Amino acid sequence: MMTENPVGVLDSGVGGISILKALVEFMPYENFMYFGDSANAPYGEKAREEIRKLTMDNVALLLERGCKAIVVACNTATAAAIDSLRETYPDIPMIGLEPALKPAVLHKPNSRIIVMATPFTLKEQKFEKLRDQYKDQAEIISLPCPEIVRFVERQETYSPALLHYLRSRFEPYRDKQIDAIVLGCTHFPFVRKAIQEVAGRDVILYDSALGVGRQVKRRLEECSLLNTSGKRGQVTIINSKGEEGAELCRKLLYS
Ligand code: DGL
Repeated sequence: MMTENPVGVLDSGVGGISILKALVEFMPYENFMYFGDSANAPYGEKAREEIRKLTMDNVALLLERGCKAIVVACNTATAAAIDSLRETYPDIPMIGLEPALKPAVLHKPNSRIIVMATPFTLKEQKFEKLRDQYKDQAEIISLPCPEIVRFVERQETYSPALLHYLRSRFEPYRDKQIDAIVLGCTHFPFVRKAIQEVAGRDVILYDSALGVGRQVKRRLEECSLLNTSGKRGQVTIINSKGEEGAELCRKLLYS
């Protein structure tokens, strides 16, 4: 595999761009190919097998186009498909995502942490295991927020309707001290401002971007796949909704 080949990054839609942004910043000499499946978003309310199949198909498309490694920049798709992907492609580095619970727990002992994610991510065994690992060190509250994905997919990243939706989701915790929020879906960093406003400015928000950036770089190094050409990398964007979806991806990437 040539080191100049792109790193494939995929998501159910435009959410994975929040991860791609960090990857580009972290590894400016890499070429990236992003696939957003906006025509089928949201994934987070679909059945496991359907999410798995869509993800397998999307990865196959990126590999056909020569990607040397794959970043599943979607917590939902990772939960449904990462095991099948690793089994099917044992020689391709496959990096998945999980909610950034660890840094949130380690930041302050005995804190109360809300994990916002899709209903699928929160009900999967993968997340249960993660939560079990930290359940004695913090109070961990699962908060499914499927509508945020739809808001982001239609470019609504700050609006009265979004604030209203967030207030309704946070209503049960209004009188409780919340220390941190984990953004367990890659669409959510795009509505960070609205979440911060509703949750309060003292609440620390965590996302997975930096951790994944480090992990991808380490994996590429380990597999001798890091692009050392010294030329600034290119980003290619493909979206199942066509130019309309690709345009929104570019807008979010370069804003
Ligand atoms: N961006 C995705 C995630 O990280 C899923 C959004 C969806 O399609 O429901 O979970």
